[in-house]
Amino acid sequence: MEMQSKSIGFFDSGVGGISVLKRAIKLLPNENFIYYGDSKNAPYGTKNVNEVRQLSFQVSDFLMEKNIKALVVACNTATSAAIKDLRIRYSNIPVIGIEPALKPAVEIKRRGKVLIMATPVTLAEKKFNNLLKKYNDKADITLLPCPGLVELIEAGVLSGNKLENYLKEKLSVYINSEIAAIVLGCTHYPFIENEISKLTQDVPIIDGSLGTVKQLKRKLVALNLLNLSGQKGSVEILNSSEDKIELSRKLLNM
Ligand code: DGL
Repeated sequence: MEMQSKSIGFFDSGVGGISVLKRAIKLLPNENFIYYGDSKNAPYGTKNVNEVRQLSFQVSDFLMEKNIKALVVACNTATSAAIKDLRIRYSNIPVIGIEPALKPAVEIKRRGKVLIMATPVTLAEKKFNNLLKKYNDKADITLLPCPGLVELIEAGVLSGNKLENYLKEKLSVYINSEIAAIVLGCTHYPFIENEISKLTQDVPIIDGSLGTVKQLKRKLVALNLLNLSGQKGSVEILNSSEDKIELSRKLLNM
């Protein structure tokens, strides 16, 4: 098979990475995609880092067997725990990760706090802390670990009382003061962006998916891997928990 017509592999701890896949399909409509959600092992973000690394290897090995031409780690948690090792392990293909979009949030230059919502693992890892060091003196940055939120989204809870209560509890302290921007540092969270907006009104909400997908495109161009067939590509959705495939499709078409 020609390199260019091979698929691009995406993975996440569950259904969250679909938010990144969605953008990728828009930007790269001629590419073929295979998405693997590891919902059986979700959430990753409250596990120990070594465990997240091992799970990331397991899932990526599975995608490599599908003969992919590029790997997108559509999970902030897996990126922070394993991206370096994944790049060593699969040195023959580009491996693209995602990280909380601090830069665009800080560059908005609104008054108030920049809130970073993400999993405990992402916020504790060295990768994020190096990023934080770069921007800490440029803005008032507050970290907001959100354990339990991925579980709600994995259960298909995208609105309603339970979610509203969770978000109110997390955000109430900040709602009455000024918020400059909110960064969604977990790929599950864009699916509840509207619910966050209901509480924070016109505060800009930013996620890292566009940056990741642009980086994917740059890599494909640079390595002459772009699919130039001119035909609409295919999307295959797989999950370690079969019963999450329907939710994944729903989120993709939302
Ligand atoms: N979508 C994953 C992320 O971006 C969620 C990790 C989890 O399963 O806790 O961090």
